[in-house]
Amino acid sequence: MKIILLGAPGAGKGTQASRIAGKYKLLHISTGDIFRANIKNGTEIGKIAKSYTDSGRLVPDEVTCEIVKDRLSWKDAGQGYMLDGFPRNLFQAQQLDKFADIDICLNIDVDESLLMDRICGRRMCACGESYHVSTLQGSETCAKCGGKLYQRPDDVPETVKTRLSTYKSQTAPLIEYYKSQGKLYSVTSGEGSPDDVFVQICAILDKFLND
Ligand code: AP5
Ligand code: MG
Repeated sequence: MKIILLGAPGAGKGTQASRIAGKYKLLHISTGDIFRANIKNGTEIGKIAKSYTDSGRLVPDEVTCEIVKDRLSWKDAGQGYMLDGFPRNLFQAQQLDKFADIDICLNIDVDESLLMDRICGRRMCACGESYHVSTLQGSETCAKCGGKLYQRPDDVPETVKTRLSTYKSQTAPLIEYYKSQGKLYSVTSGEGSPDDVFVQICAILDKFLND
């Protein structure tokens, strides 16, 4: 299965991607994670990406498309994968059509009023786990590995505003793009708990696999 996870910042793409990857044994490819790793390691790609991710704007298409095209050519992508955060505009979607044959675009739809709180309250661990401050009861360590929690540099209100408006103007039109290709599957109650959202996603994916 080759899946795209579509949704606004904070919709729960990363949260659901870990669960989907575990259950369906799919490779999880997150362009945001790739950029953050490159920034941390001080690579050339990281140097280019930093000013864009810090301000909530899209990293230039030529950089992003090349990274994804290369990653999909690795052997481990042959068994199926899930793209989290790519494509993010029409040009990227058109490029992806040239080097991949996507089966499903899963759109996680969440009421916009929830997104700012979800994102600004997020705390991350280097192991990949994420939390919301409201559930941490003041703890600053990861319950899974004991690592120190931190806030993503782009999870601050001003940058989140830009990320949300970038989503609306550039990414949301992809819903129609994949609808017109007959590949769009919407998770309409993305406001539910992560478990509830995952149940909906499994129903969609199981139906696809059994049809
Ligand atoms: P990226 O890392 O992709 O960030 P994003 O799309 O803004 O999405 P988030 O990771 O913030 O949200 P998410 O949907 O994954 O939600 P999560 O599950 O974490 O991109 C970062 C930057 O990289 C971009 O701004 C851009 O600069 C650059 N970039 C990346 N891809 C690019 C591309 N293709 N082209 C150009 N540039 C690109 O959940 C969020 C929070 O909500 C967490 O605290 C979580 O615990 C909580 N939560 C999740 N689900 C639920 C639920 N059901 N109920 C309650 N809380 C929930
Ligand atoms: Mg994410």
